[in-house]
Amino acid sequence: MSADLETIELDLITAIGSAETVADLEAVRVASLGKQGTISGLLKGLGAMSDEERRVMGPRLNGLRDRVNAAIASRRAALEDAQLQAQLARERIDLSLPPRPRRQGSVHPTMQVMDEMIAIFAEMGFAVAEGPDIEDDFHNFTALNFPPGHPAREMHDTFFLTPDPQTGERKVLRTHTSPVQVRTMRVGNEKPPASWIAAGQEPPIRIIAPGRTFRCDSDATHTPMFHQIEGLVIDRDIHMGHLKWTLETFIARFFEMDAVRARFRPHHFPFTEPSAEMDILCDRSGGTLRLNEGDSWMEILGCGMVHPNVLRNCGLDPDQWQGFAFGMGVDRLAMLKYGIPDLRPMFEADVRWLSHYGFSAHAVPNPASGLS
Ligand code: DAH
Repeated sequence: MSADLETIELDLITAIGSAETVADLEAVRVASLGKQGTISGLLKGLGAMSDEERRVMGPRLNGLRDRVNAAIASRRAALEDAQLQAQLARERIDLSLPPRPRRQGSVHPTMQVMDEMIAIFAEMGFAVAEGPDIEDDFHNFTALNFPPGHPAREMHDTFFLTPDPQTGERKVLRTHTSPVQVRTMRVGNEKPPASWIAAGQEPPIRIIAPGRTFRCDSDATHTPMFHQIEGLVIDRDIHMGHLKWTLETFIARFFEMDAVRARFRPHHFPFTEPSAEMDILCDRSGGTLRLNEGDSWMEILGCGMVHPNVLRNCGLDPDQWQGFAFGMGVDRLAMLKYGIPDLRPMFEADVRWLSHYGFSAHAVPNPASGLS
């Protein structure tokens, strides 16, 4: 018996010492000290022994159990320590290594300028409205006082969609953001999706509508897709003075000038009467363009007093409500502000162009920290 116990102990101590993982060690523990284990079996046998035998074997078996227990505990501590050390070595971070090169995207100048414009107009009390890129003839033309067959429709180089086989209706890619005026004013007649901000309002109205516009035209100064911001103010007793102040204040703020030197030149748009184009003074001499000085003029935007027919088409009584509207090309203003010479690369998604002209995503324009 005593020789057996020594063999058992020796075998167990060897097995414990050679356990390579906590799981191996646990297997040894279960086989010896678990409910069905060898040592537990021997301890159970004590009950059947004579007093004398038990007096000898009791302490020997308890001693064996305690030594095996202690050996397991110390091996477990050693294995856990080794495991931790291995994990620490694996997860080591060398803080002296140089960081990975940053592959950071940038904000497109058009989007940056749109945010700048929205920030300025928001400060002046304008809300942002939206409409769909695919428009119907009514919103893009008819409601805006383009009579059917009117040559102005042709001037828009419209992209037409395939006619609806049932109704024959031909949708268009909107040629300007002006249809959002109509969608904003036509209270009750439109059921705008909730995602279109500010659509369907009772006057007074003060909105801007930034968005994509499309015309079938492509050269150095035209791309088939471009961006506009539309503006609309409807209230009582609105006149050209309000229009002039609003646009001069906006342009001065946008180009960061104390005061803008502008002129309003008579023009024609079907949806405004009178209509004007706003020009800023500029100097083109010496191959560079300088705004607000010199003796040349640069066209900046179109504007005018909302035509009574447009108000009527939107269910507003022109004797009660008047307003002004304006529309400008966002890409063109971005080019002017940030010295971008050519329009076409703006939409070619060339990363070199984007990293040169793009803005940091952290440079969010707001009136407090600056607009550019
Ligand atoms: N919709 C015009 C265009 O795309 C721009 C414009 C001009 C908008 C005058 C207006 C406006 O609201 O009053 O050419």
